Amino acid sequence: MITPVLLCGGSGTRLWPLSRKSYPKQFSRLIGDESLFQASARRLSGEGYGAPMVLTNSDFRFIVTEQLSDIGVDPGAILIEPEGRNTAPAILSAALWLEKSNPDGLMLVAPSDHVIPDAEAFRTAVTAGAAVARQGRLVTFGIAPTHPETGYGWLELSARPAAGELTAIDLVRFVEKPDAPHAEDMLKAGHFMWNAGIFLFSVKSILDAFRAHAPDLVEPVQQAVDEGQPDLGFLRLAPGPWGEAGDISIDYAVMEKADNLSVVPFAAGWSDLGGWDAVWREMPQQEGAVATSEHATAIDCTNTLLRSEDPAQEIVGIGLDNIVAIAMPDAVLVADKTRAQDVRKAVNALKSKG
Ligand code: GDD
Ligand code: MG
Repeated sequence: MITPVLLCGGSGTRLWPLSRKSYPKQFSRLIGDESLFQASARRLSGEGYGAPMVLTNSDFRFIVTEQLSDIGVDPGAILIEPEGRNTAPAILSAALWLEKSNPDGLMLVAPSDHVIPDAEAFRTAVTAGAAVARQGRLVTFGIAPTHPETGYGWLELSARPAAGELTAIDLVRFVEKPDAPHAEDMLKAGHFMWNAGIFLFSVKSILDAFRAHAPDLVEPVQQAVDEGQPDLGFLRLAPGPWGEAGDISIDYAVMEKADNLSVVPFAAGWSDLGGWDAVWREMPQQEGAVATSEHATAIDCTNTLLRSEDPAQEIVGIGLDNIVAIAMPDAVLVADKTRAQDVRKAVNALKSKG
């Protein structure tokens, strides 16, 4: 049995104004009828999976339970982080929690804000990964790169994957967020893939890896788990020791250092919706590559995304090319689609305005 561990802590600022600190993108119905979080929980349910663990913070705890109950999924432990310390402490706390009941079990760590349209293909990839995770490997999932992305982790494979290959391949190395020249080189070399940010390992092997590569995290996080306070079915990690754990991602803390990594190539479609351009790509498109939501009308537009998240507000675009326009009840974004990544700057600018 595999325990899903859903990471639910981020605030997704690049999808402002839909994604907010108080209601981030994973809980919104961005693509399809369910929220991204619900789709992730459903993707990791059914035969072979146990009840999902969720790692989140105090603000989101009731959204989490409500959204799971809406889709009929009973959660396992829900751990509340007193503050975001990035993914390494979060994943370590889940592993230490599971060690108490199931030290030899497998855990599948997944962000809750990704889109993977083909759940069946993903299940097959997980089965392939589970076979080697049981032997102690730390399994990543690889996406064929399309451009020299510097915002992802890159996986160097010991062999170039054959088309459609679905077996685990040993990794030579893991490079988190390379600089642009390195990313160019890796793209050209051909035996590199992007890290999807989804990990599969046994509780025991990831704990061994933390003890070997990030020993300073282990004691404070263990204490935060042991001294955690049960609260209405949640476990509140103890704030004192939690605050002493370093703020670092699992990619830097463990993956770049470990020598027992494997990758299962995953070819069936994946997006981390890292901007409005990515959302536009995943939405159903009309002629001229135009995507619209309800309450949105595009006339003679091309390559454009128009969304209204407010039933009281119609949005109309005429003769637009390469534009994203997002209307919320209290804010409107209009941007050149090639500048989608700069939305983060807008959020920072608004923050400093107070
Ligand atoms: N619970 C919790 N607590 N979740 C967190 C925290 C935290 O402190 N910090 C981040 N997360 C969640 C985010 O919401 C997101 O779903 C996931 O963990 C990954 O964090 P990001 O901050 O989005 O990481 P990234 O995009 O920079 O990089 C990761 O994902 C890429 C693919 O999307 C890395 O794993 C890269 O190697 C990978 O390519
Ligand atoms: Mg991300």
